[in-house]
Amino acid sequence: MDIKLSDITSIIENDLIDFRAFFKGTIKSDVPLLDILTRYLMKQKGKEVRPILVFLSAQLFGSINHRSMVAATMIELLHTATLLHDDVVDKAHSRRGFVSIHNIWNNKAAILLGDFLLSKGLLIALENNEHTLLEVQSRAVQKMSEGELRQLKTAGLFNMTEERYYQIIEEKTASLIATCCECGAVSTTDDPEIHTKMYNIGKQIGMAFQIKDDLLDYSENEIGKPKRNDIVERKVTLPFIKALQNANKSDARLYKKLMKKRKKSSSEVQQIVDFVSTNNGISHAEEIMLEYATKAKNELCDIASPTSAGPVLQLIDFITHRSK
Ligand code: IPE
Ligand code: IPE
Ligand code: MG
Ligand code: MG
Repeated sequence: MDIKLSDITSIIENDLIDFRAFFKGTIKSDVPLLDILTRYLMKQKGKEVRPILVFLSAQLFGSINHRSMVAATMIELLHTATLLHDDVVDKAHSRRGFVSIHNIWNNKAAILLGDFLLSKGLLIALENNEHTLLEVQSRAVQKMSEGELRQLKTAGLFNMTEERYYQIIEEKTASLIATCCECGAVSTTDDPEIHTKMYNIGKQIGMAFQIKDDLLDYSENEIGKPKRNDIVERKVTLPFIKALQNANKSDARLYKKLMKKRKKSSSEVQQIVDFVSTNNGISHAEEIMLEYATKAKNELCDIASPTSAGPVLQLIDFITHRSK
């Protein structure tokens, strides 16, 4: 199934145009290096899944407004900053089909640019008196850092468990996607019960989103960022965890050891990919991803009519079927 994001977003096309202009405006700077870096950044467009989710969530309960715009921009600023920092941590040489910023300039430039974007997110919240958005997003920032740090400690460890994996992805990814749904709802309804429900729906979507991302690392697709980087960086994700559970004891021991190895040859990396697919790691991770997606859809249909929920349901399908 090939789902085009543009088909889903046609109903919010003008809002996305406004969002892009707003986003671009917030990162303008007269510091020469910052200007060069932000120009480079603006050339690399991401999927914009988070702002789209903010707008589609907002639309469930009212009309997209300035608050929705501020929320979407804050979240995309935060997301972009996280990617810059994450690529330093993961030593990833490309992002969105371009050479990553730390690779062209250096780690210092990438980290400082990330900090600049974070500061801009805080400032637009203050400028717009958005105390609630600030509070909700600050909590997400904390969770995301905790997730990345927890993950750092588990690289190459023998005792990575399925439970710990879920905890990490909930923190590093699902917390922000949950915040998208919550902030979208906050911008159009005052009902706190809806805010909580939307947060929880977003959390399920976020879990599916990261499992898909981890699956893509094992896929053959061109994903705009280094493939197999999780294996190279000794990052144990759900496909590998599932393969270990399915494999016989001696293979499991062997491949755990291989995953833990610091410098793997390309044939060793390929051996891990083959091990994971032979032992149904891919198909089992896909099943779990779809369970999260179905849960999100069902919970959404409890609070919104099927017609109004349509675009969000389609976005969930896009997330679980995307090829990058
Ligand atoms: C990448 O997010 C980071 C993860 C949480 C997996 P996206 O896949 O949304 O990245 P862009 O913004 O589209 O490049
Ligand atoms: C997402 O995990 C981490 C963030 C929250 C940025 P990944 O490390 O898998 O993300 P990609 O694959 O580099 O985009
Ligand atoms: Mg990464
Ligand atoms: Mg990844």
